Formats: sequence, structure tokens, C-alpha cells
Amino acid sequence: MGITLDCSTKSIAIAAKRLLDGHLVAFPTETVYGLGADANNEAAVRQIYTVKSRPSDHPLIVHISSAECIDYWAVDLPKYAVDLAKNFWPGPMTLIVKKNSQANTLITGGQNNIGLRVPSNNCAQELLLAFENMGGKGVVAPSANQFGSVSPTHSQDVEDDMGKLLSKNDLILNGGTCTLGIESTIIDCLTSKPRILRPGFVTKSMAENIIGIEIEENNLPNSVRHSGNHLKHYSPKTPVYLNSITLAGDGLIAMSEIDTPQNVVRLSSPKNFEEFASQLYSSFRKADQLNLKRIVVILSEQNEIADAIRDRVFKASNK
Ligand code: TXA
Ligand code: MG
Repeated sequence: MGITLDCSTKSIAIAAKRLLDGHLVAFPTETVYGLGADANNEAAVRQIYTVKSRPSDHPLIVHISSAECIDYWAVDLPKYAVDLAKNFWPGPMTLIVKKNSQANTLITGGQNNIGLRVPSNNCAQELLLAFENMGGKGVVAPSANQFGSVSPTHSQDVEDDMGKLLSKNDLILNGGTCTLGIESTIIDCLTSKPRILRPGFVTKSMAENIIGIEIEENNLPNSVRHSGNHLKHYSPKTPVYLNSITLAGDGLIAMSEIDTPQNVVRLSSPKNFEEFASQLYSSFRKADQLNLKRIVVILSEQNEIADAIRDRVFKASNK
């Protein structure tokens, strides 16, 4: 059973050393909590797949402290990928680029490309820096939940989901609530035109404004495996319905101006889309704890953040 520590400098130094020694460290990012392992330690990376029950062909994102660490992991970046990195890192964006020969295909699900991200959360930044100062090169970190279930946005969620599966030298860093609450935008940078594989807080129009190239819609090539290829993803135990009528005993997630019908449990009343995203996964978990019949999410607005939230709700409802 892993132990939970705070994000003090002392705890982070302990955590960085644990990573270097091949143990797992769950840590907060601005999106969701990640379950970290030294990306160059094959046994530790295998352990991530084991504790998450994750299929080995499902690639992991390598987290680095800054764009300066890209060259260790990747080659032949198109100029637009460099521009995206310069503008949106540190932040909630993952770039899929051509991998360097030294990057183990265990990380990449056997593919020739690799996912890279520089998180902005202070604790994540300090952990990655401390790890790199000890000689580490990058930390693979999938969301710290069982494969197919809801991503954690509090350290307690990590304890609930993964606590029993962690070993005695593994750690959980408690950095409070994740500010954004949904996973990073994934941008495939393997072709002349980038493509968004998973929408998030770095939106298509934000990226297009920087690079001046039109970004393709999510139109998947068979060669790239990514989030959403597996049917059951981001799912709470309680069935999720998008824009459906509520029945007695349901839980409701909807903007604050929408009233709660009688005999329905209000799970979340966000005032804006940022709040909607940050409360979504904890509301899913609350519904499971309360043993509700169903979760109904009302979200019909069209804008890029609403679309990113709807992507998660849609996947959660896709059982
Ligand atoms: O916000 C996030 O991205 C969080 C935090 C912890 O950084 N991480 C996260 O990791 O969501 P994970 O493993 O739960 O989801 C990452 C997704 C996976 O669905 C995976 O298929 C995709 O990224 N991915 C990673 N590397 C890839 C690659 N080389 N090619 C295509 N997709 C990749
Ligand atoms: Mg995940």
C-alpha cells in the first residue's frame, strides 16, 4: 500500500528518488492525477500497466519538465509542433511526435511515435525537475485510475482506486484538487497537418491561431492508437446519459441556471464551463458512492470547452 505525502520540497525529493529507484509515484497535474514511473525503467513501466490493468498496446505519455527535454525523446518535429510546444507548455497539451530510437516501444505501445507533455502544476513541475536533476529523463504517467474508469482529480480518488494495488515503496503526492479536471488535449503532429485526437483546454482555435495551419478534425488513422479507441473509457459504475430526461433517483449535472427536478440528486451546478470540467469526474464518483440509478448530464452548448467536456461524457456513456 503506497503512502500519501504532501507536496513539500522534502516530500518531492523523496518522491523523485523513489521514481529513480523504480517505484511508482502518483502526482497531481493541472488536468488529473497521474501515476508516474521512470520512463527508462522497463520494470517500472511494466508495473504501471499491471497495476492499472492497462492493455500493453495502449501508449503512455512521457512527462518532462520543459520543451528543452524534447530532443532526448523525439526527432523530426515539424515546425508547427515546436511552435505549439513554445506556446502551450507548460500546460494541458500532449504532442504525438516521432520517437527517438532510445525511447522504448514499451512506452509507445509498439508504435514509432511518442506522446510528450510538460505539465504546469507546481508539484508536477518540481517533481520532474528534481527527477531530472538526479539523472532521470522523463516520467510516464497515465491517469492514476484503473483502466477504463474515471480519472482522479483528488489524491483521495487515487487512494480509493489504486491504494491497495500500490507497493510499500510507492507514493501518492497530495497536491489538492486538479484545477482543470479533464485530461490534456492530444495533438497528433505526425503529418503536415496536425490533428486533435483528444479535445481539451488547449483548443483547436487556440492552436490554429498560433501555428496558422488548419487543424484537422478527429479523423483517426489506423496507425495511431489513442484515447477513445477502447469503448469503455472514463466510465463511472453508474450509467451516464447525455441530454436525457431525469427520472426519480437519478443524479443531475447541469449548469446552475437549470433547476433540479423533484427526487433527483443534484451532483453539480457549475456556473461556467471551467467549473463544469473541474467538477465532472468528482460528480461521477459521488454518484457511484451514493449508488444512484443513473447520471444525467445536460450540456447542449456549442463551444470548444463544452465540446471537450461532451467528449468525456460521451465516452463515459458508451458502455
Ligand atoms: O492530462 C493528461 O494527459 C493526463 C495527465 C496525468 O498528464 N494523462 C493521461 O494519460 O490522460 P492517459 O494514459 O490516461 O491517457 C493518455 C492517452 C491514452 O489514451 C493514449 O492512448 C494516448 O494518450 N497516447 C499516449 N501516447 C500516444 C502515442 N504515442 N500515440 C497515440 N496516442 C497516445
Ligand atoms: Mg486515462
